[in-house]
Amino acid sequence: MWDPKETKNVVVFGGTGAQGKSVVTHLAATGLYNITVPTRDPTAPAAQALLTHPNTHLLHASYTTTAGLRAIFEHQDAAFISFNSFAIREPDELYWTIRAYEIAAASGVKHFVYSGAPNRLAAHGYDERFRNAHNAPTAQMAWTVVTRGVYIEMLGSLLRPVRAGDGTFVFAAPIGEGSVPLMPLDDYGALVKWVLRYPGESVGRRVAGAPFVTTWVELVGAFEEATGMQAVFRDVTKEEWFEGIKGYIDPEERMPRGVAEDDETATTLRKSFGAWWDLWKFNERDLEAEGRQRGSMEGVNPGRPKSVVDWMRRTGYDGGLKEALKMKKDEEA
Ligand SMILES: NC(=O)c1ccc[n+]([C@@H]2O[C@H](COP(=O)([O-])OP(=O)(O)OC[C@H]3O[C@@H](n4cnc5c(N)ncnc54)[C@H](OP(=O)(O)O)[C@@H]3O)[C@@H](O)[C@H]2O)c1
Repeated sequence: MWDPKETKNVVVFGGTGAQGKSVVTHLAATGLYNITVPTRDPTAPAAQALLTHPNTHLLHASYTTTAGLRAIFEHQDAAFISFNSFAIREPDELYWTIRAYEIAAASGVKHFVYSGAPNRLAAHGYDERFRNAHNAPTAQMAWTVVTRGVYIEMLGSLLRPVRAGDGTFVFAAPIGEGSVPLMPLDDYGALVKWVLRYPGESVGRRVAGAPFVTTWVELVGAFEEATGMQAVFRDVTKEEWFEGIKGYIDPEERMPRGVAEDDETATTLRKSFGAWWDLWKFNERDLEAEGRQRGSMEGVNPGRPKSVVDWMRRTGYDGGLKEALKMKKDEEA
C-alpha cells in the first residue's frame, strides 16, 4: 500500500523550462524530495543552473523515446508530466502522454501529476474555431491533473505592449471585452508542491490554480497603477495583431520547427494563436473561474501576489521584453 508520506523521488518533466523550473524551485525548497530533471542537454546553462538547488539531479534523456521514458521513471515515486506542445507534434504529444503513463505505472511510480488545461474546446461546443493545440482535454496509478492559466510572464514577450511616439504604452490585442486567466509561474510550482503534500485532497482530481482573470482594459489600468506610466488598450483584429508581432515571431512558421511540409498535424502560430485569442475573446469569466481554488491559493502559495498590479510592482514590470520560455531563449542563443 502506497503511503504518500513516503514520496521521496520526484521527476520533473521540462524542469529546465519556464513551467518546470517553478516546480523544481518549490519542491527543492521543501528539502523533502530527491528531484530528477530530464533534459536533452545537461551541459546547457539552464540545466546547470538547477544544480544550485539541493538534492536536484540532471538526467540526459528525452521524453519522446521509450528508452528515455524508462530511464526517466526508474526509481521514481512521483512525476510531474509536462510535454512542450510547441516543440512536438500534437499526435506525438498524445502518444507520448499515453506511453508515459504506461511506463510510469510499470516503473512503480505512485503519483502521476499531469500538467493540463480545462477542456476549453468542450466549453465552446467543440467549435473548430477555438481548436488550438495547447488546450487539449486529458486514468490505476494515483493521478492528478493540474490546470492553471496563461503565464503572466507572457506580458514580457508575446503579450507585451508597444510604445507610441508620445511614450504611451499600447496594449494591442484582438480580445474585445474578453479576458485572459493570467497566472504567475511561481504559482505553478507551488501548486505541484501542494498536490504532492496533500494527496488526500489531490488524487483523482483536477486541481486548479487561481489565475487573475483579466480584461485588457483592466490590464491597462493595472499597468498605469503599478508604473505611473500612460497606457491604452487597442482592440485590433487578429490580422492586425499578427502583423504587429512579426518582428518577434513569424506567424506563418510551421510548428514544431522542422516538421514535414505535408504533415497535416502541424500547426502555425497564426492558426494556433488565432483560435487561442478567440478562446479569450469569447471567454466567460464565471466559466473560467469555476472550480478554481479561489481563496485557498493563498494557503497553497503564501505571500503570492494579490493582483496583477501587485505582480507588476513586485517584478518591476515595465512593458519591456523579458523572455520566459526556454525554447525561445534557445532559438535566440
Ligand atoms: N505560455 C503559457 O502561458 C503556458 C501556460 C500553460 C501551459 N503552457 C504549456 O507549457 C508547455 C511549454 O513549457 P514551458 O513553457 O516550460 O516551455 P520552455 O520554457 O520552452 O521549456 C520547454 C521544456 O521542455 C523540455 N523538452 C522539450 N522537448 C523535450 C524532450 N524531447 N525530452 C525532454 N525534455 C524536453 C525542455 O528541456 P531541454 O531543452 O532541457 O531538453 C524544456 O525544459 C507547452 O505545452 C504550453 O502549451 C504554456
